[in-house]
Amino acid sequence: MDSQHGMWSSRTVFVLAAAGSAVGLGNIWRFPYVAGENGGGAFVLVYLACIFLIGIPIMASEILIGRAGRQSPINSVRTLSAGSGANPLWQAVGWMGALAGFMILSFYAVIAGWVLSYVLQLGAGTYNGADAEFASNAFSDFIGNVWSVVGCYTVFMALTIFITARGVGRGLEVAVKYLMPTLFFLLIVLVIYAAVTSGHFMEGIAFLFSFDVEKLTWNSVLIAMGQAFFTLSLGMGAIMAYGAYMPKDVSIIGTATTVALMDTAVALMSGLIIFPLVFANGLESSGGPGLMFITLPLAFGQMSGGQFFGCVFFILVTFAAITSAISLVEPAVAWIVERMKVSRVSAALIVGGFVWILGLGSAFSSNIWADVYIVGNMTFLDTMDYVSNNIILPLGGILIALFAGWVVDKKIRDEQMAADLLYYPVWQVLTRFVAPIAVSIVFLMTFLNG
Ligand code: PFF
Repeated sequence: MDSQHGMWSSRTVFVLAAAGSAVGLGNIWRFPYVAGENGGGAFVLVYLACIFLIGIPIMASEILIGRAGRQSPINSVRTLSAGSGANPLWQAVGWMGALAGFMILSFYAVIAGWVLSYVLQLGAGTYNGADAEFASNAFSDFIGNVWSVVGCYTVFMALTIFITARGVGRGLEVAVKYLMPTLFFLLIVLVIYAAVTSGHFMEGIAFLFSFDVEKLTWNSVLIAMGQAFFTLSLGMGAIMAYGAYMPKDVSIIGTATTVALMDTAVALMSGLIIFPLVFANGLESSGGPGLMFITLPLAFGQMSGGQFFGCVFFILVTFAAITSAISLVEPAVAWIVERMKVSRVSAALIVGGFVWILGLGSAFSSNIWADVYIVGNMTFLDTMDYVSNNIILPLGGILIALFAGWVVDKKIRDEQMAADLLYYPVWQVLTRFVAPIAVSIVFLMTFLNG
């Protein structure tokens, strides 16, 4: 049985598409700055543990559910729970995922809009020879201007909706095949640059890998776990939606592991680029969301050929963001096509319209609504980010793990895992017990510790 939305042409294309979803702003922009805000090493250790013990098994669960259901996440879960004689309430997993997708894309596209503007700024040579002060002022000036932020945000949303409307096979397959390897290559060039020229490479390594557990609080454990879900695109059905287009007979656990390793490599490389530059320029490691937007232009401004490489690099980050953004809307778009029998184009426009309106709140968060706090001292953008990543995704993840591990009929599970006999029992233990219990403990401890 094939999906009505189309199919990936091979395992490799699935890996690239899933990696395209996983690798994005979460790796290059968010990972370094949240690691920085949470003290580095110990945070990174918890993050890595979450990737391997929780992330990989849940990614495998999502692929399993998607491939067995061959529809949008909402309908795949519905079909499987009916087929397994389970409570129809399990559908809520799909609904929660669609909501999370809207919330995440609404702020994700705003940040991607910032990236887009940096393509132009670097291309124009704005940062040639700039110092740290110039770079941080330029950043605050840019995000403080409501018109430029909304403009760039809108362009990014339009690109995302355009590609989504074109469908699964056309465009996206071709794009990821060329973009992902180029992105990898440029990241390696930049790691070498940071290693050779910053003079602070070892400090960067020490910051990322010195596992000083004293700095760890339950809240930072929660954030490390949320980051693991976010970076692997888990807990909301994105990988489930992509799993629906995966060829059968391909190993699920092997594929999930490959994708997770690629994603982790990109995150660590980004850290190894950004922190040496932070230390070399006397910037704060806890500099927040602006970290990448200040350090990278600064580095490119000093490099020979930096104007060109800088511009190309931000173009690639834009593409990395687009290949993730597309997977954020796919669950909702596929569901609308199935349910309302409308074309993909209309479905993409409907979803895009809703998300665009919601995202204005995030676009305003660094300018006209900079003083509007939704929860505690968090702006609209911070709230969307915090709630979706640290609460909805892990919660969705637990439910997905329980559903795949316990609820889905054993026959279906065995059939989907036929190519994974060796690791199937390990997956089962992680999915049934380790992942749900670990996530629950982190929730509970964060809650108890305020
Ligand atoms: N994994 C993406 C990133 O790291 O940038 C973000 C993301 C995409 C999160 C898709 C969730 C998702 F469903």
